[in-house]
Amino acid sequence: MLKVAVLVSGGGTNLQAILDAVDNGTITNTEIVGVISNNRNAYALERAKAKCIPNLCVSPKDFTTREEFNDALLRAVNDMQADLVVLAGFLVVIPEKMIASYRNRIINIHPSLIPSFCGTGFYGLKVHEAALDKGVKIVGATVHFVDEGTDTGAIIMQKPVAVEKGDTPEILQRKVMEQAEWMILPKAIDLIANDKLEIIDGKVWIKTEA
Ligand code: GRF
Repeated sequence: MLKVAVLVSGGGTNLQAILDAVDNGTITNTEIVGVISNNRNAYALERAKAKCIPNLCVSPKDFTTREEFNDALLRAVNDMQADLVVLAGFLVVIPEKMIASYRNRIINIHPSLIPSFCGTGFYGLKVHEAALDKGVKIVGATVHFVDEGTDTGAIIMQKPVAVEKGDTPEILQRKVMEQAEWMILPKAIDLIANDKLEIIDGKVWIKTEA
């Protein structure tokens, strides 16, 4: 049984997609052991409470230094004894100590087809504003392992979404969430929970049935 801790910052629609997927069997062999938010007002925490999942806020505002926050975040994750850490809209930089402790055991959902529109400053609506400014016809979402860079870890899954005439950043964000994020993040967790991924020369592949 894969124990999963989910880190959130906002509305928690990706967390909800994960919870629903566990309930309906899209995700198997998995237990969501806890939810941690840096934002005490995150609706994602309400979603965890509704499912009686242990949840807590670890906010940088509650610590005098970033180092103390980093240590508290790592302690909170360790206390959950998670096998996998899922960043579902988590907007805080993951401490290097945590990345080292959970090498290839932290995954993130990013609302673009990496390497497009990613890296420092590309989060939330900014991603979709940039895509519309560029006039791309295909956008999408990416699930990737987290390494020391920003949105630079090995790509696990991606799903495209068509840009249509009249799309606004808000419409595009919603389409990418509905048509891509909420589908590939649960799927990636299920693949990991059932040992279906392999990493060859730093690239992630789904194991082919022998
Ligand atoms: C999503 O668009 C996700 O791609 C990005 O932040 C947003 C989180 O939304 N990282 P939610 O909190 O899961 O609703």
